[in-house]
Amino acid sequence: MKVVICPTAERATALTARVIEQALRQKPDIALGLATGRTMEAVYGHLVRAHKEDGLDFSACRTFNLDEYAGIAPTSPHSYRTYMNAHLFSRVNVPLEATHVPDGMAPDMAAQCAAYEKAMRDSGGLGLQLLGLGENGHIGFNEPLSALTSRTRLVTLDPATRRQNVGMFDNDLEQVPYHAVTMGVGTIADARRTLMVVTGAAKAAILARVIEGPVTAGISATVLQMHADCLVIVDEAAAADLSCRPYIEYLMQHDPELKALLA
Ligand code: GLP
Repeated sequence: MKVVICPTAERATALTARVIEQALRQKPDIALGLATGRTMEAVYGHLVRAHKEDGLDFSACRTFNLDEYAGIAPTSPHSYRTYMNAHLFSRVNVPLEATHVPDGMAPDMAAQCAAYEKAMRDSGGLGLQLLGLGENGHIGFNEPLSALTSRTRLVTLDPATRRQNVGMFDNDLEQVPYHAVTMGVGTIADARRTLMVVTGAAKAAILARVIEGPVTAGISATVLQMHADCLVIVDEAAAADLSCRPYIEYLMQHDPELKALLA
């Protein structure tokens, strides 16, 4: 795991977008794993700008989103499909048929989950998986106790997650679904590269456990400690509880890969 601490959330999300941009320029037909949440809105804003101003081309890539609420239609204003169309897909030149978000209303959930896994395999596997971090340490919607080998499946949301995401449901907890479809922890771990972006003081305590604590199914993001190519980009506020910070700063100055990234 490599960690970069940026002075601000703005710089962290811009750097995250730059890593995605470089991956896409290097391999225009990459299969990208994408994420949702407030943090990602800025990341997608930077990618849209790179498309419009610097010609970043999404026409050959394929995308697979991490998750979707169950029981709400893709056309719902609250769905992650709607979120993705609004923040990214409708604003760049990715063909809509190359974008995949699980369907929260699929009549046969198990069949859909198996088909989602197959579609990722058929696309050559995820070249880069973008990740946010839930306040309970989840990646995707892999709530505490998710098996570290889990695959795409239907899950029951942690009450903390329902509360954390209430903003996307008109601040009405009643409207937040109890279930979701998510790539598994094992699915995410299969991506060739993983890229997590974490900002804000509310994530400082959980981020320290993700980076420095023991690997545990209680905090699904700790699986990233076992991933061979994982980059974590954070802002000052999220980095506040890291005890290995001096070494992270040393690496930012001396690690060749991080030096090139930060040049
Ligand atoms: C949701 C998503 C996660 C995301 C998290 C963080 O729970 N399922 O994939 O990481 O939100 O959201 P935010 O960026 O709004 O803190």
